[in-house]
Amino acid sequence: MWISVPVLLLLLQTPAVLSKRVIVSWDVGYVDIDRAGYGIVRGIGANGVLPIPPVILTVGDTLALTVHNSLNLTTSIHAHGLFQRGTSYMDGATMITQCGIPPGSQFTYEYELKQAGTFWLHGHDHHQNSDGLCTPLVVHDRGQSPVAYDEEVLLSFEDWYSETFAERARLTLDPTKPFPPPHGIGFGLINGVNGNLTKPINFQPGRMYRLRLVNMSATMWFQFSLPGHTMRVVEIDGEYTEPPEVYGVDIAPAQRYSVLVTAHSTNSFNYRYNVTMYASFIPAEPGLSPRIFIGDIIYQQGAPFIQANQEPALPVDRSLELTIGRSVYSTGQNLDHFNNTTYAFPLTPTLYTTLSMGDMAMDERVYGPQAHAIVLKHNEVIELVIHNPESLLHPLHLHGHAFQITEYGPTKPFVPNNVTAVPVVKNSGVPAKRDTVVVPSYQCVKVRFRADNPGVWMLHCHMDIHFVMGLALTFIEAPGVLQKTQKVPPEMLELCAKQGIKTTGNAAGNQGLNFTGLPPMPTIVLRKA
Ligand SMILES: *[C@@H]1O[C@H](CO)[C@@H](O)[C@H](O)[C@H]1NC(C)=O
Ligand SMILES: *[C@@H]1O[C@H](CO)[C@@H](O)[C@H](O)[C@H]1NC(C)=O
Ligand SMILES: *[C@@H]1O[C@H](CO)[C@@H](O)[C@H](O)[C@H]1NC(C)=O
Ligand SMILES: *[C@@H]1O[C@H](CO)[C@@H](O)[C@H](O)[C@H]1NC(C)=O
Ligand SMILES: *[C@@H]1O[C@H](CO)[C@@H](O)[C@H](O)[C@H]1NC(C)=O
Ligand SMILES: *[C@@H]1O[C@H](CO)[C@@H](O)[C@H](O)[C@H]1NC(C)=O
Ligand SMILES: *[C@@H]1O[C@H](CO)[C@@H](O)[C@H](O)[C@H]1NC(C)=O
Ligand SMILES: *[C@@H]1O[C@H](CO)[C@@H](O)[C@H](O)[C@H]1NC(C)=O
Repeated sequence: MWISVPVLLLLLQTPAVLSKRVIVSWDVGYVDIDRAGYGIVRGIGANGVLPIPPVILTVGDTLALTVHNSLNLTTSIHAHGLFQRGTSYMDGATMITQCGIPPGSQFTYEYELKQAGTFWLHGHDHHQNSDGLCTPLVVHDRGQSPVAYDEEVLLSFEDWYSETFAERARLTLDPTKPFPPPHGIGFGLINGVNGNLTKPINFQPGRMYRLRLVNMSATMWFQFSLPGHTMRVVEIDGEYTEPPEVYGVDIAPAQRYSVLVTAHSTNSFNYRYNVTMYASFIPAEPGLSPRIFIGDIIYQQGAPFIQANQEPALPVDRSLELTIGRSVYSTGQNLDHFNNTTYAFPLTPTLYTTLSMGDMAMDERVYGPQAHAIVLKHNEVIELVIHNPESLLHPLHLHGHAFQITEYGPTKPFVPNNVTAVPVVKNSGVPAKRDTVVVPSYQCVKVRFRADNPGVWMLHCHMDIHFVMGLALTFIEAPGVLQKTQKVPPEMLELCAKQGIKTTGNAAGNQGLNFTGLPPMPTIVLRKA
């Protein structure tokens, strides 16, 4: 019996309690199709269809994949990523673990699904996978998944060419032809169609999505990013993994990733994802390599799109080095510090000091020794070089700005012997931009921002206990411009008046550098990091 795949998928969407044997039948044959605007190319599909619909099952199920060969060459199917423990003969590699299925013949692969994850089924004979004979195989956990999410979205990536694989192979191997061969740069398909025409992904506010990214490409790499959202990698090639936070993933041929994305809590904006198809060995050629595909993430029909960050790395005017540390202070407390200065709140709000101190607002000392004030000139580009020689990581948040994250590397002055120093990774091109950067332990992170927002802005660790322990400092940005352009509403000053807090003067509410009344700055007694 030939079960049509839509019916099969419907069956599979009902909660699976009992293991089952599911028959999927593929009549593998040629499909003439225009998938990329190159005109009709002869592809290889199943049941007359290209792309072949994904197969979605559950651990414990058995997939009986019946392959009827309507090609004029042998064929075989490999279940990529399934270990085939005890059943290596089912691995599908022609002339390695089996003889190809001859034209006109039929064979049924029996796959006992023991592994949960994202896999793919593909031809393993005459490189038929490159002509379209491939589709994702998703195996859900039976019962509770170790990874919690609300919904999942499958995105498969393929490269597609204006010639069949056999023609490309002939051109590539022909010594009289230029290399790489003309038209050698593939087009990108996402979910089997031109990557710019792939159906939008719908997000509902607050829900958690598992995006399954499957690279079914023959040659090209795909870089997937979702500007405006961060992703946590939770599965790599069928293995659950500790979830690092990433801005994008590079998927090499045959690799798979699952990433978790939490939808924003509002549906005011729609977003776009960005898929860059490239190969390091193919020279850049405008419009051809790399190729960019943009897809929509729709929160609400008709909502405006968030413009993707296009800002190249800013040229640095001034670099400020900051070292995170922890010490026992003369108060007896364990306190955190940037450059040995542990932060304490002033007696007068720092902004009011800036606004009321005239030219003295340029003097960092008026903000008090523990504000750790750093005065920035209007529009200068600041680079922060943040060293974390500690075993703890710190999510540092900058108020008033999003900074460009331009480099990760090992920290100075040292990385302990028992810790592997990370390599230096520079973010060339368009660096990710965000307002909170995690400085991992024993690493150095470089960020840049333009001081184009006159104001008083904190930089602080967003782990509240570290903030309490003093891991904070204050940027006094363009005080001259600030004094001329901003005026505090009287209702706000009243808030201070009600509590007897001064709204003029230095950090102690006094004139000049008279800090009478301000608690003395504690000193370091014992350095811990
Ligand atoms: C197989 O069929 C295709 C398309 O019908 C044709 O182009 C090709 O020459 C055939 N190959 C062989 C070995 O007969
Ligand atoms: C996708 O798979 C192809 C072929 O296996 C590989 O060359 C490419 O690097 C992969 N891309 C990514 C982003 O993993
Ligand atoms: C897409 O990503 C590539 C590679 O990171 C980048 O060069 C390009 O500017 C991005 N395009 C958009 C519209 O986000
Ligand atoms: C996809 O669409 C984007 C945005 O319109 C465009 O910049 C890009 O060139 C398109 N990609 C291809 C391969 O046509
Ligand atoms: C922090 O200390 C380092 C090392 O002493 C110094 O080079 C740097 O200028 C200091 N940073 C600031 C913002 O004072
Ligand atoms: C912090 O103080 C220690 C001495 O306690 C000194 O060796 C170190 O250079 C200082 N660090 C910075 C960043 O100023
Ligand atoms: C490295 O050694 C120190 C001191 O013995 C220890 O506290 C720390 O946990 C070790 N770090 C790692 C990553 O093993
Ligand atoms: C410093 O300020 C305090 C409190 O306002 C004041 O009593 C004292 O006279 C001031 N000292 C000087 C030298 O102005």
